[in-house]
Amino acid sequence: MAETANPVTARDFARRKKAGEPIVMITAYDALFASLADAARVDAILVGDSLQTVLAGEETTLGATVDQMIYHGRMVRRGTERAMVVVDMPFLSYQVSPTDAVRNGGRILKETGAGAVKLEGGAAVAPAVEALATAGVPVMGHLRYTHQSASGSGAGRGRDRGRGAFETLIRELKALENAGVFAVVLAMMPAVIARRLTEAASVPTIGIGSGPRCDGQVLMIHEMLGLDGDDAPPHVKRYAELGDEVREAVAGYAEEVRRGEFPGPEHVQKV
Ligand code: KIV
Repeated sequence: MAETANPVTARDFARRKKAGEPIVMITAYDALFASLADAARVDAILVGDSLQTVLAGEETTLGATVDQMIYHGRMVRRGTERAMVVVDMPFLSYQVSPTDAVRNGGRILKETGAGAVKLEGGAAVAPAVEALATAGVPVMGHLRYTHQSASGSGAGRGRDRGRGAFETLIRELKALENAGVFAVVLAMMPAVIARRLTEAASVPTIGIGSGPRCDGQVLMIHEMLGLDGDDAPPHVKRYAELGDEVREAVAGYAEEVRRGEFPGPEHVQKV
């Protein structure tokens, strides 16, 4: 059994929406990045199943497992004192049955000490959300660009842009709200739709690629730090170019070793 959850809770999220104070969420997959983000006073740290693509170099997130999410969730929880830790439930850990969802979500919460789990989908996953919420597991929803199913048969980036998209999404959102989510990620949708959903929502919305009028924002930390290669998607603002710095630093080290300049006298143990 891991430590108990951190000070920021679902109740704080609700208060923020009411007060019009933006909620800040960022991803992290280990204690180091989590502690840096926590020290920067973000409100929530998401252990996304994006770890499959960002860390493991896979093409999609589909292969993420519950054990993997627990392993990374524990690391993030250890690096975090204040922010709420939210752990993604991976593909097929909640779709098979609500009982399965409670078993897997409960394990994630108990074994990581996270404050909440996140799962993707709308009305179709409402029974799982309801079962989790009834069991006392705080659930964050995730609507629209569902990358778990985008690589399978479901809706993907760029669909549902036409008329009716709002009506479809508001139905999905209300199904999630009624089932008991405390917040919902609105991913990769036109800003006007995200704004209307946010106005209609009784729970806070956290946007990614969905414009400025959500109740909060989430970014993937490796993307906003410039650690993920050169082709970040348009919704990402680069707050640093750490990839370039790492490359330059390692190249400098390699060159100095090859020239016999490192280690210098100051780096040698004195006897
Ligand atoms: O897995 C993830 O990192 C996510 C974010 C893109 C919101 O779900």
